[in-house]
Amino acid sequence: MDILIKNIKELVQVRETPVKWIAGKDMAELPTISNAFLHLKNGLIANYGSMADLPAITTQETIDATDRLVLPSFVDSHTHLVFAASREEEFVYKIKGMSYEEIAAKGGGILNSAAKLQLMSEDELFEKALVRAEEIIGFGTGAVEIKSGYGLTTKDELKMLRVAKRIGQETPLTVKTTFLGAHAVPKSYAKKSDYIDLIIKEMIPAVAEEKLAEYIDAFCEKGFFTPDETELIMEEGKKYGLKPKIHANQLSISGGVQVGVKTNAISVDHLEAMGEAEIKALQGSDTMPTLLPGAAFYLGTSFPPARDMMNAGLPLALATDYNPGSAPCGKMAFMLSLACIKMKMTPEEAINAATLNTAYAMELGQTHGSITKGKVANVFITKKIPSYAYIPYAFGADVIDQVILNGENIGKIH
Ligand code: NIG
Ligand code: FE
Repeated sequence: MDILIKNIKELVQVRETPVKWIAGKDMAELPTISNAFLHLKNGLIANYGSMADLPAITTQETIDATDRLVLPSFVDSHTHLVFAASREEEFVYKIKGMSYEEIAAKGGGILNSAAKLQLMSEDELFEKALVRAEEIIGFGTGAVEIKSGYGLTTKDELKMLRVAKRIGQETPLTVKTTFLGAHAVPKSYAKKSDYIDLIIKEMIPAVAEEKLAEYIDAFCEKGFFTPDETELIMEEGKKYGLKPKIHANQLSISGGVQVGVKTNAISVDHLEAMGEAEIKALQGSDTMPTLLPGAAFYLGTSFPPARDMMNAGLPLALATDYNPGSAPCGKMAFMLSLACIKMKMTPEEAINAATLNTAYAMELGQTHGSITKGKVANVFITKKIPSYAYIPYAFGADVIDQVILNGENIGKIH
């Protein structure tokens, strides 16, 4: 398929060459071309430029994007998209005043999701996840990371990861998978160390054997996994080629950031609880700090200190954390709104965080996250909107008109 999009009011996030990531002050710069064209060919970005420089070409399909913007598809680098059921009963407990920890202690939380997932067949789980995958495609996401962590037995963790991989095979989404056996300790284990032994001796080798994941994660938090346990699990994963990506500092200053840097994690995610030492630890590292404002919004916790982190020269990524317990929303545009409204990021900073920097956090920086010749043709065309700042400004609005993934026009979004 060969598509020309012409008369684009503004082509956003145009980068001549791939960049590692956008950090610190540079996050405020978002390169665009007004009155532009974009040529997509053989699944890749072939050419782009100002309409004045449009070469004479004939293409199979031409789209007139007058009054519309074109952006690279969002890259959502942290989700738990595969789960059995929503948990709105806990939502009601929460409204009535119970904390996340209290809900978990009452039989809710991650263990509740695990109990439901263990009873579900792989095919049924896939059908449930597929609905969410299609939903996020309509929200403008083109690449997504999906974690396990609601299985908590070897068989069920493998089942989750197979389903996640299948989402990548049977939809146009680019999927990367993460093994998160260390999400919570099942009730049947009196000793946490016995469950950690299972992760290390049985789960990690089985995940690697079937090549089901490229990353390994742990929920490094009080009441879940300590920094030492997290480090041990990350190091064992690395022996099998799994690269660390860690849930860190969500509910408390957990030591997760430092473990992430020490184990050379691709990213440390959440970061609601950050001190100066955590910011310092990240400086000079190759670890992407990833903010998940949907979880802070839903749980009513404080938001990460995004401005302090950018002032310290750090890059920031923004992802949804789409999951049934702390962030039941897979809409990246709403994360942009939360970033701007709650963390005082500018629209430019938020868009950089949700495209190029999340691409880094999934090791897709060479192929995704910007309008760059040779990158994968993953873009969305907006409805008639005045500017890219309108996307975070009009929180909750449906701003996307058409989605193109891998150079294929998958059509109008309703
Ligand atoms: O990223 N923090 C740990 N895991 C998820 C929540 C899991 C759940 O409550 O189901 C998160 O917020
Ligand atoms: Fe998460």
